[in-house]
Amino acid sequence: MVTKVNGSTKRVGLSPTMHNGFYGRDILSVKQFAREDLDYIFGVAEEMEAIVRRVGATDLLKGSILANLFYEPSTRTSSSFAAAMQRLGGSVIPINEVRYSSVTKGESLPDTIRTLEAYADLVVLRHPEVGASQIAARYSRKPIINAGDGVGEHPTQALLDLFTIQQELGRVDGLHIAMAGDLKYGRTVHSLARLLCLYDVEMSFVSPDILRLPEEVRDEVIALGKPVRETHAIEDIIETVDVLYVTRVQKERFSDLTQYESVRNLYEVTTDLMSRAKPKMILMHPLPRVGEIHYDVDADPRAAYFRQMENGMYVRMALLAAVLGKA
Ligand code: NCD
Repeated sequence: MVTKVNGSTKRVGLSPTMHNGFYGRDILSVKQFAREDLDYIFGVAEEMEAIVRRVGATDLLKGSILANLFYEPSTRTSSSFAAAMQRLGGSVIPINEVRYSSVTKGESLPDTIRTLEAYADLVVLRHPEVGASQIAARYSRKPIINAGDGVGEHPTQALLDLFTIQQELGRVDGLHIAMAGDLKYGRTVHSLARLLCLYDVEMSFVSPDILRLPEEVRDEVIALGKPVRETHAIEDIIETVDVLYVTRVQKERFSDLTQYESVRNLYEVTTDLMSRAKPKMILMHPLPRVGEIHYDVDADPRAAYFRQMENGMYVRMALLAAVLGKA
């Protein structure tokens, strides 16, 4: 059984393998990662993909238990974590509907976490509040993986996004990457923009004024020496981008629904728009899409979002194996 390595402890010397900086660690923010960590995870993820394609599963994590605790809806994140654990021979306590758990009886997050960490080897947590995974991590002796904390971060999504860029285009350095849609509330954008700062990339941010990238994230990106280009129209950047990362307007985050209505249908990627893009670029989306990408675009080989979604399982397999010290 893995008991957590103190978050503030430096990795060196604590890991059972030379490069695995994830052993016994919480995964709370992309700010924890260095490039060598990503190279390591992506290497393991490639091996996981090969294993799944060849034999479907392995018993690397046989006997290990993952608690999947979701206080917000999820299809891909929760099922890919569950599939990842099961393909590694482990098992899952799924609490996808906190409605049916003691949370409805008024149980606090710390008490729920204390319960699950007593039964499981690690806890994957999605919660509507920014910083919830940090709080959970304080109460847990077992590693916590942040699967989305409100409008904060979604670090494992950013890992799979970056892995996808690397797999599809063969590199990350030197690319022009544009993120479009709800940059204010989209936690996947907040994590990806931060993670991309580890690379030599050009970033563009496309949104209406009310959905601009939060100042905090923008300042961090600028502080790391990246020029931030902001625009209102995908048309402004479509011809030069290598990656167009489109996001859903996060309806559930708006307190004023008329404001949501004013921006909900602002962007739609169509085959017409794609005809102006580079032949080698890729179109990404964390999914679910609710009108941002026309279904006709799915047939375009540059539409990478379903491959991106599948990569989530391989990256999460790598992460689980790494955190539990079996990679
Ligand atoms: C995203 C999320 O939950 O932040 N989805 C996901 O995890 N793949 C994006 C979204 O909900 O729009």
